[in-house]
Amino acid sequence: MNGHTDENLMSHVAHKGSYIPPIEDESITLIFSPGKDGVGTLANALKLFKEYNVNLLHIESRSSDRIPNQYEFFVECAPSDNITKVVEILKGTMVYCSVVSRNHVSDSKVQDEYVPWFPLRIRDLDKYANQILSHGAELDADHPGFTDPVYRTRRKYLADIALNYRHGDPLPHIEYTEQEIKTWGTVFRELTKLYPTHACKEYNHLFPLLVENCGYNENSIPQFEDISNFLKDSTGFTLRPVGGLLSSRDFLAGLAFRVFHSTQYIRHHSRPLYTPEPDICHELLGHVPLFANPAFAQFSQEIGLASLGAPDDYIKKLATCYWFTVEFGLCRQDSELKAYGAGLLSSIGELQYSLSDQPELKPFDPEVTGKQEYPITEYQPTYFVAESFDDVKEKLIKFANTIPKKFGIRYNPYTQSVQVLDSKLQLQELANNISNELQILRYTLNKVE
Ligand SMILES: [Fe+2]
Repeated sequence: MNGHTDENLMSHVAHKGSYIPPIEDESITLIFSPGKDGVGTLANALKLFKEYNVNLLHIESRSSDRIPNQYEFFVECAPSDNITKVVEILKGTMVYCSVVSRNHVSDSKVQDEYVPWFPLRIRDLDKYANQILSHGAELDADHPGFTDPVYRTRRKYLADIALNYRHGDPLPHIEYTEQEIKTWGTVFRELTKLYPTHACKEYNHLFPLLVENCGYNENSIPQFEDISNFLKDSTGFTLRPVGGLLSSRDFLAGLAFRVFHSTQYIRHHSRPLYTPEPDICHELLGHVPLFANPAFAQFSQEIGLASLGAPDDYIKKLATCYWFTVEFGLCRQDSELKAYGAGLLSSIGELQYSLSDQPELKPFDPEVTGKQEYPITEYQPTYFVAESFDDVKEKLIKFANTIPKKFGIRYNPYTQSVQVLDSKLQLQELANNISNELQILRYTLNKVE
């Protein structure tokens, strides 16, 4: 089948590849704990930055979870040639010191010490909100809206709303035009005819709930706030508007916090069943329903957590696993093949093609899947078949353990932050928490027959 000429083709350039946009004025974050006499020692450390002409962009203190009753400091430094020297001194004088950076460090002496920057708290996602690969009126020449100035202005308007969004703001409410609603209606009508026979049972179980709770219907485009509230109640996932394509690293990091970056603009009305990029039809019909499934939500988060601080080659493998699961995953249910990937569930043509006897099918295995090459502008020649969402999760967790990192990562849902596990104390605390959970299990097992 020639996917290029098929009106139903929907390609997905988002979340693809390992390209990270150039960011000027890269900063480096240092986390250190002076041990005893914390506050006085911070003053000394600050003198050190001054002495070496390292400008500080942000300083923050918190109680350390590595060293009992001590403080920890987060210091964001402006780029400087002297940073290596400062790190060396801090490592020699502080009880704890670690470095996170978006930069590749050329100095081999300290290269091992650097971990690629990643968000530690959910609000850190604001830091890369504007680091997108393209946005607004920047359309490729083959985009159906390329020569339509009204469409381009509208798309830029919606993308700018996303760019100005910050964590904690109310989710933007969009008044969609009649033309936009008509486009949505066409896509909605055609796809919902296929779901009962082509989508996985989890999707078909959840879709009516979105109709009931979030206003999914062909006459109006659902609003982010309603969807995000529904997802939050179901699995803790939330939507965050995005103005364009994020790098794989940044996109995957959002999943670690159960945040799904989602576009709010819609494809061009001239070709309602085609889009060369993710749009609101792809996000809301393809992605959203399954984020309300606990097992699916968890394996999505596992990909995100595995990506934090991972080297570039592993980001590429994880992004490829994401591609062949969350975007283009198939699964076998009651000996029948069904689709669960959003790229399939939002494309009339590829949804039918994927379940035909034309593509090659392979069992999902992160080691193999992560290395698979794939086209982004035509139907996939190969799909990977999962046994279940739990099976995907288990395999991803196992794969994540092969990623070379000198620390463990644990998500704390109470504070919506990730804990970098690199001390004995933290592990002891984790063991205590697990033992509390086991106690609940043990006592409740006696009560429940
Ligand atoms: Fe997608």
